[in-house]
Amino acid sequence: MRKNIVAGNWKMNKTLQEGIALAKELNEVLANEKPNCDVVICTPFIHLASVTPLVDPAKIGVGAENCADKESGAFTGEVSAAMVASTGAKYVILGHSERRAYYHETIETLAVKVRLALDNGLTPIFCVGEVLEDREAGKQNEVVHEQLAGSLFDLTAEDFSKIVIAYEPVWAIGTGKTATAAQAQEMHAFIRRAIADKYGKEVADNTSILYGGSCKASNAKELFANPDVDGGLIGGASLKAADFKGIIDAFN
Ligand code: 13P
Repeated sequence: MRKNIVAGNWKMNKTLQEGIALAKELNEVLANEKPNCDVVICTPFIHLASVTPLVDPAKIGVGAENCADKESGAFTGEVSAAMVASTGAKYVILGHSERRAYYHETIETLAVKVRLALDNGLTPIFCVGEVLEDREAGKQNEVVHEQLAGSLFDLTAEDFSKIVIAYEPVWAIGTGKTATAAQAQEMHAFIRRAIADKYGKEVADNTSILYGGSCKASNAKELFANPDVDGGLIGGASLKAADFKGIIDAFN
């Protein structure tokens, strides 16, 4: 069966010292608990090697927020999937809307990144989502389908089964404007149907599909109660251990 997952995306926040403190605090907060979901923290690259040994791997997975679309070589400033994996990290966020919008990541580039992540044993948390203009034009399904099919649907069923999907409507990210539970469920069901059409019902039923966009402790329970919402990808509310724990507790 598919897993419930609460994953944090720290984005470009926290110095190394602050990140270490947050990871330690979260580890302590979860020390005497058995969360009813997998917990993941995705941190800036420079935190990974310091944070992975600090957390209990049975309770907290660590991931990067991106990786390069090249294996290795003369690509100044880039960080490869192999380097991410060498820190002990197990996950990598790919296709975040901020990467698509500000760093011009394309569907084709993302297909390459997904391949490299899988080849290096990382679990991609692959983000899809429409901008407000698309939703207002009723094009959200079309846009999300193109993002999924263009970057993922050339994978074998075996490889696709290793991927976690995150639906993050761009208009809900960092805006305080959350998708309603009904809007989230509708899109998650659409995504699951698209996966079923391509890979069959069993693969679709086993794929975790997370919701992201102004998710917080006060709305997580309602969002996660939907049959096709298997957890969340959390930005702002992952930057304080207590806030993040409040979202993890939505699964209790
Ligand atoms: P916020 O939770 O801050 O809206 O960010 C969501 C997000 O982009 C997670 O990847």
